[in-house]
Amino acid sequence: METSRIFLTAASCVLVAWTASAALAADGKALFADKGCTACHGEDAKTPLQEGYPKLAGQNAEYVFRQLQDIKAGSRANAQVPDTMAPIAADLTEADNRALADYLAGLDKFTPATARGPADAAGRKLYMSKTCIACHGKEGLKPVLPTYPSVAGQDKAYLAQQMRDIKSSARKNGETAAMQPVMHLVNEDEIDAIADYLSNVK
Ligand code: HEC
Ligand code: HEC
Repeated sequence: METSRIFLTAASCVLVAWTASAALAADGKALFADKGCTACHGEDAKTPLQEGYPKLAGQNAEYVFRQLQDIKAGSRANAQVPDTMAPIAADLTEADNRALADYLAGLDKFTPATARGPADAAGRKLYMSKTCIACHGKEGLKPVLPTYPSVAGQDKAYLAQQMRDIKSSARKNGETAAMQPVMHLVNEDEIDAIADYLSNVK
């Protein structure tokens, strides 16, 4: 009798855990549509509405989660954040942000539709010589920490803007302090060349 009760309790715990994780995965996708994220970032999260808007598919979950929390808290308020993301992020709960981040991280980063032109050789050289590779990984694909962003295949104008803002400290949220000190190594033209290179990685 006692054994069967323990068994039943264990079985229902497994069931609850399974249902909860299934619900969480479903939530992220539903939230992404219901909260209107698709309007600006695209239904597949990698065809943004316009230049300067980021792709989110395949981005590191922990990085995305923290950005959403920072935008909500107001600590990331550079560039287009106040006019686009801030009002939406204000309504998102911590659980929403986890579900959204997990959903986005699980999507494929690349598809043939997002394939771009050949890599910019000058930008590639700069990416390797100006220390970027040490944190963002080979070709920007494999950041060294889960809180660091993948920068490969990202929108070119978005990349350049974020580099400028981190350099000038207009963006100083999260772990940007790790990157800011190396940004004196790159000038305006070099920032554009690196953005061109990274946006073409596929
Ligand atoms: C009105 C357009 C718009 C909507 C709607 C929108 N975003 Fe954004 N989002 C942007 C723009 C523009 C940026 C880049 C802001 C900047 O210039 O720094 C951004 C940035 C982000 C970032 C940071 C990306 C990075 O690489 O650091 C995340 C994460 C994000 N959005 C997720 C979402 C989610 C999730 C939703 C829905 C809840 C959403 N966005 C709705 C326009 C939008
Ligand atoms: C010491 C580690 C480090 C180095 C070196 C570094 N970065 Fe970063 N980078 C980061 C971190 C950490 C972030 C995210 C900061 C945050 O918001 O928490 C970031 C953010 C970015 C972003 C914004 C991504 C987005 O989705 O918004 C871009 C673009 C970027 N880095 C490009 C570069 C380039 C190009 C170089 C070389 C010139 C470079 N980084 C060097 C750690 C580094």
